[in-house]
Amino acid sequence: MSNNLFHFGMIGLGTMGRNLLLNLADNGFSVIGFDKDEQKGSALLNESAPQHKVKTVSSLSEMVLQLEQPRKIMMLVPAGRPVDDVIDSLLPLLQPGDIIIDGGNSFFVDTLRRTTFLQSKQLHFVGMGVSGGEKGARFGPSIMPGGDVAAWKNLQPLLEAVSAKVNGEPCVAYMGKDAAGHYVKMVHNGIEYAIMQLISEVYDVLRTGLGLNNAEMHQVFTQWNEGELKSFLIEISAQIFLQKDPDTGKNLVDIILDKAGSKGTGKWTSQEAMNLPISIPTIDIAVAFRDISVYKDERVAAEALYQPKRTPIAANKATFIAHLGNALQAAIIICYAQGLAMLHKASSVYNMNIPLKNVVKIWRGGCIIRSLLLEDFYTAYQNNPDLANILLDPQLAKQLQIKELALRTVIVQAIQSKIAVTGLMSALGYLDAYTDANMPVNLIQAQRDLFGAHTYQRIDKPGIFHTQWD
Ligand code: 6PG
Repeated sequence: MSNNLFHFGMIGLGTMGRNLLLNLADNGFSVIGFDKDEQKGSALLNESAPQHKVKTVSSLSEMVLQLEQPRKIMMLVPAGRPVDDVIDSLLPLLQPGDIIIDGGNSFFVDTLRRTTFLQSKQLHFVGMGVSGGEKGARFGPSIMPGGDVAAWKNLQPLLEAVSAKVNGEPCVAYMGKDAAGHYVKMVHNGIEYAIMQLISEVYDVLRTGLGLNNAEMHQVFTQWNEGELKSFLIEISAQIFLQKDPDTGKNLVDIILDKAGSKGTGKWTSQEAMNLPISIPTIDIAVAFRDISVYKDERVAAEALYQPKRTPIAANKATFIAHLGNALQAAIIICYAQGLAMLHKASSVYNMNIPLKNVVKIWRGGCIIRSLLLEDFYTAYQNNPDLANILLDPQLAKQLQIKELALRTVIVQAIQSKIAVTGLMSALGYLDAYTDANMPVNLIQAQRDLFGAHTYQRIDKPGIFHTQWD
């Protein structure tokens, strides 16, 4: 370290900010942290190793004075107003060329606005997605920076050092222009919502349809995690089924209230997909079902009113569990396909130049949606970097064709048992529509023209047509 100046500053020392600083310190960087809550600063100092150069300060000006130039300052504060407040406080303290990084889950439109604003102040701004939760931040997250190329070049060695590694390769890469970093992270979270929804449906089929207990479900998920379904979300699901509640001794999962929380990134993905427009029905369903879950009292009343009989699934357990694994894998491929197709479209609509090959490459490690499948997607994009939809990749098509029947079988059985598997259904419906060269929307076009003279195109000649319907 030159002149006793520090390499990196962090504003916001919640678990993520603190762990990322400790990770930087492990990798030989000297770091300063600031948080309005002094206890968080103390927690950072308590957790840091004595040989590491880790310091806390009680004001932003103190931090700025002790950072080497160009200064590299990251914010990990709640999305929205707090980010603007921190930027406003930093502005009078910084000099041209300094770099501000927003590592939170900011809405990409806010990131665009901030990028333009800070450019006018000759400051570099990097909107950066960070995924992997607390452990990821501490020991290697997947990092999705975008925007300012000069700033990225400056940050690259540091980010590569702290990121997760797969086959020795860092899980960080430049995600494209403007707000691309936060855009990619938003879609990552949409896919995260969808996979979690699909897993919860499969859990319901195992629990309600097949009558498996938690220990048995632990076995099923553990086995799945040893095969082609290998992924972080399957792995933690297996772990969850073993956790006991210290107060009651019961399985913790059984006493957690069935109301799902959300902080908005899944909803943004759905809203934004409709703006583009592009179809991501499995992500939409995931958002919608978290929302239905919140209406617990109404669901309790409705169950009492309708008295649905959830009948057991009449099938050989082992065979059906194998079908379930295949069905889940097929649906997961399809929900990644939806999210990646959205990135492909957004990249061209907003001129972001998102390198899809690198997106899936850096999602292979560190992030919440890391999975073995990403290796297949990486291969697909290596063969065709501009693939509009991974369902068009011949190898993935083969995988899906093998698993498609299992997905249909599971859905039919679950519906008969009155188990909601709407995420699985949406994935299959998407596949059926996407692989249909002749959708029935010609009738919709006819209806639109009949009642509203909205016009239509024909299959036999070019042009726009309107008919005086009899
Ligand atoms: C990650 C996660 C993380 C997200 C949480 C909570 O990649 O590490 O996506 O950024 O904030 O998963 O999201 P919800 O509260 O909306 O479920």
